[in-house]
Amino acid sequence: MNILVLGSGGREHSLAWAILQNPKCDRLICAPGNAGLEAIAECADIDICDGGVVAAFCAENAIDFVVIGPEAPLASGVADALGEAGVLAFGPSAAAARLEASKTFTKEICDAVGAPTAAWARFTEAGPARDYIRSRGAPIVVKADGLAAGKGVIVAGTVEEACAAVDDMFGGEFGQAGAEVVIEEFMAGEEASFFVLCDGETAVPIGTAQDHKRAGEGDTGPNTGGMGAYSPAPVMTEAVAQRALEEIVRPTLAEMARRGMPFRGVLYAGLMIEEGRPRLVEYNVRFGDPECQVLMMRLGAQALDLMLASAEGRLAEMSVNWADDHAMTVVMAAQGYPGAYEKGGAIGGLEALPETSREMVFHAGTARVGGQVVAAGGRVLNVTARGGTLAEARDRAYAMIVAIDWPGGFCRRDIGWRAL
Ligand code: AMP
Ligand code: GLY
Repeated sequence: MNILVLGSGGREHSLAWAILQNPKCDRLICAPGNAGLEAIAECADIDICDGGVVAAFCAENAIDFVVIGPEAPLASGVADALGEAGVLAFGPSAAAARLEASKTFTKEICDAVGAPTAAWARFTEAGPARDYIRSRGAPIVVKADGLAAGKGVIVAGTVEEACAAVDDMFGGEFGQAGAEVVIEEFMAGEEASFFVLCDGETAVPIGTAQDHKRAGEGDTGPNTGGMGAYSPAPVMTEAVAQRALEEIVRPTLAEMARRGMPFRGVLYAGLMIEEGRPRLVEYNVRFGDPECQVLMMRLGAQALDLMLASAEGRLAEMSVNWADDHAMTVVMAAQGYPGAYEKGGAIGGLEALPETSREMVFHAGTARVGGQVVAAGGRVLNVTARGGTLAEARDRAYAMIVAIDWPGGFCRRDIGWRAL
């Protein structure tokens, strides 16, 4: 079959890499792509958030299946447009994507089904929000309601900090995303990500992972899109995963179906786990980036079969075959990220690195300029490996990093510290 992957990050490179291992894939196109994707697939520079453009591209190229990577095209209704055009797509409708696009929507769903999450309140004006913060005390969490590229969340240690965050959000720092602000109880515990494939009815867990959101070692410094991940996450024991499925994920899916917006695609539950009890931090309606890279490394070719079953409503007949492996990915980012950083620096040493089912450098923000791979974004490379133990996966990944010659880049040296 002919397959189109939408997106241009390390997530999409890993999806494309896994899809290509499956003999069902005859032709793979990625849009818009990056230097890593160009090396393994055709790339097309189209507007991936315009459903009409994507549907027309699929018709022209006889595309049988579209895998939608990022949240923006999901929120803008690309899956809906493809459905109307009769093209099979992996990913939820715009209505179901509100589980990520609107924090208040998710909170209302949780309240409706009694799913455990932080106590919350919603505000459209700064004054009452500040009063609420003062009445609750710190620590407390302030969030812009809409999509803010993962940056619209302030975990405030003091009342003053929380009030300043409220003023920033209503002051327009996050544009429309900050027109409504959610204030939440601070939840203590350890975070983990739980990935569940859904087809509107059936839920199939496909793995757990832990991300590293802070830029600096020891989880210090500013928040980022994610500096590294590993799978599985030891804190997500079988018992915790079962509880998360029964108390949070399945009730959510049932409520979404009841409201006439069944969820199809991958539901990524960000959980806070305290003493074996999972509570929902947030949902995302897509794979995490870089969590996807470690999941794909563990799933390999069956990822395509699972995504097809999700799109076709056949998940009830599927099971997941686990390699008993651990995988780790270390993000190399441009110095300065997540603040200002330079683009265009040459990256050497990549050609000499192994590209196997156990070791891969997935590309995120890269471009090829005159035969040379150069940095073209904040997060640039995802150096990924698996092994019989997490320590083995880590050693393989960091050994590859040593061989990468990119003076303008940096990475965290402590990915996996919690589990190791
Ligand atoms: P979110 O974008 O909602 O995932 O929030 C970003 C990060 O903020 C999460 O990964 C958590 O580390 C933290 N966070 C969000 N909400 C809470 C909460 N209610 N309690 C504690 N930490 C939180
Ligand atoms: N790595 C976090 C995310 O993809 O949202």
